[in-house]
Amino acid sequence: MTLLKENFSLLEYNTFHVAAHARFFAEISSEEQATDFFATGYAAKKTRFVLGGGSNVLFTNDFDGIIIHPVIKGIEKLEEDSEAVVIRVGAGEVWDDLVGYCVKHEWQGIENLSMIPGTVGAGPVQNIGAYGVEVMHYIERAEGFMIDTGKRVTYSARECKFGYRDSIFKNRLKDQVLITHVVFRLRKEPQFHTSYPDLQKELDNYSETTADNIRQAIINIRSAKLPDPQVTGNAGSFFKNPLVNKEKAASLQRFYPAMPGYPQQDGLVKLSAAWLIEQSGWKGKTCGNVATHKRQPLIIINRGDATGEEILHCALKIQKAVMNQFAVKLEMEVNVL
Ligand code: EPU
Repeated sequence: MTLLKENFSLLEYNTFHVAAHARFFAEISSEEQATDFFATGYAAKKTRFVLGGGSNVLFTNDFDGIIIHPVIKGIEKLEEDSEAVVIRVGAGEVWDDLVGYCVKHEWQGIENLSMIPGTVGAGPVQNIGAYGVEVMHYIERAEGFMIDTGKRVTYSARECKFGYRDSIFKNRLKDQVLITHVVFRLRKEPQFHTSYPDLQKELDNYSETTADNIRQAIINIRSAKLPDPQVTGNAGSFFKNPLVNKEKAASLQRFYPAMPGYPQQDGLVKLSAAWLIEQSGWKGKTCGNVATHKRQPLIIINRGDATGEEILHCALKIQKAVMNQFAVKLEMEVNVL
């Protein structure tokens, strides 16, 4: 039976550690439970949000709807041949535990995504990425349920319509689907992605390049640079790196020759949000109970007792500062509720 709770505290369920309550909260631990729960119709037509590890969400208020929290576990091998392995993983598995498990079994592909907080179910939603790798290249399909009808659904990687920190689950199917499992295809033969400058530098300390060493190197980089959400409330990058057209990038680079710009396949240029924020004076800057991180200004931190509203207020000020100086709009990566 699903445990539907009312007026449920979300304090332990968001890595910003802000206080908020959900009107209803349902924890789902199996597909059978999901089937039974959706049959009750509780979730239908209510405002809803699927919450994984709470590492990419900011509650600015109590949530007057239903929070669905999948805790479905399990890693099941579906196929294996000499080149690859296909595994089906429960949405509630901790993402980094999965990465560790795959590295241990020498199933390669997602090692660059070590230490990203959150759960497996969020992987396809925001197409998590780091150090030159995006999870979309290793996903075969996402399985789940339509929240309104309880109908089982499967989306192939192509149907997921992945983009930079983006998928169909953030657009046409926003808040419509509960992902229960993600199916990954991982390689047995390594094909490492080590061109990201920070990673290259850290790997110089290792005698060979293996998935295990890449994982260790990334854990070192991230531990040195990013605040631990267990200690300091934060949700990783608050903003996405903005994509602008070539002309806009060129005109900015005339004024700011040092500005990083990464041309993309579609002709757009990805700018560094961290750089833009730093230039606008917001690196390591405090704003009441809120601040930007001193080593990575893309990360907004809760200095202690910040409310969600205070954090949002600070984010809006950063957005405005960057807009005023560069006429570039920073889009929020974090889900603001
Ligand atoms: N930079 C600055 N000032 C800083 C920090 C960085 O100017 O204080 C500039 C530098 O030019 C640097 C560039 O920004 O070379 C890139 O910095 P970094 O390597 O930290 O990466 P990022 O683009 O800022 C993205 C992801 C991170 C991910 C890293 C590593 C987004 C929104 N963020 O950050 O993801 O860990 O790359 O791959 O794409 C997250 O999504 O929560 C997250 C932490």
